[in-house]
Amino acid sequence: MLAGVKVFATRRYPGAAFDELEDVEVLPLAELREPREDVEGLFLANEPVPLELLPRLRVVANFGVGYDRIDVEACAARGVIVTNTPGVLDAATADLAFALLLAARRQVVTGDRFVRSGGWSGSWSEGGLAEELSGSTLGIVGLGRIGSAVARRARGFDLRVLYTRRSDAGSELGEPRELDELLAESDLVSLHVPLTPETDGLLDARRLGLLRPGAVLVNTARGEIVDEPALIAELVSGRISAGLDVFAHEPEVPARLLELPNVVLTPHIGSATRQTREAMTRLAVDNLLAVERGDPLLTPVPG
Ligand code: DGY
Repeated sequence: MLAGVKVFATRRYPGAAFDELEDVEVLPLAELREPREDVEGLFLANEPVPLELLPRLRVVANFGVGYDRIDVEACAARGVIVTNTPGVLDAATADLAFALLLAARRQVVTGDRFVRSGGWSGSWSEGGLAEELSGSTLGIVGLGRIGSAVARRARGFDLRVLYTRRSDAGSELGEPRELDELLAESDLVSLHVPLTPETDGLLDARRLGLLRPGAVLVNTARGEIVDEPALIAELVSGRISAGLDVFAHEPEVPARLLELPNVVLTPHIGSATRQTREAMTRLAVDNLLAVERGDPLLTPVPG
């Protein structure tokens, strides 16, 4: 029970751990119009915190590893603790990145549509032959926790792995490259950097132009990391394919993308497995409980 910290959650988060917040109330932030003196804890999913309306706020528990929509500096300046849920979603997100790589490379979605259309008369002529995944080169942009989980999966597919990473430390998971080199050398590229001012628009038109003809770009990180209009232009030209789980203005998906056969689209479901979402709730609740008890935080976001 969180006796001393009154928590408001922006929705009911999945899993039994949510019920350990005995006093929790559900309060969608969109409904907050007036200052609320009673809100001391917020449980949300990467949503902007209306600090000006919440004078007694002490802690924000973010359901997710990415906190790009939370003004962490402003929270720190007001003494508001922010926590997130790193680690517990690595496997689920890496699995989805692989699902998108495979789906885009092996025409899984176009094949599915073809079968459903009733047009299959014994041979798959419409899409032509796919390029094989095995033996390809996979470029991982951001060899952090999730990127490393992708690299480990790549071994089972006999992929050669190139990577960029923030630190200079080497990794036995692949070969380090500068970003431009990685883009030019890879058949498959998967993005795993957080959205920050430095990574906003990281894959601009010039960098997208470095991708090899036939390359597959997968984004399970944040839509804003890629210049979306420039990506659409590349996809329209048919030069590359993509698997996209994230978009620059979610839940809006550019209409042009919906028409293209060479892109597979999913609705930001990288972490959306029962096990992972329950583990995210568990970790967020444990952070809230730690605040209440004065215990060390499990996964604080550096302020
Ligand atoms: C995250 O953890 O940042 C994901 O995008 C939310 O599922």
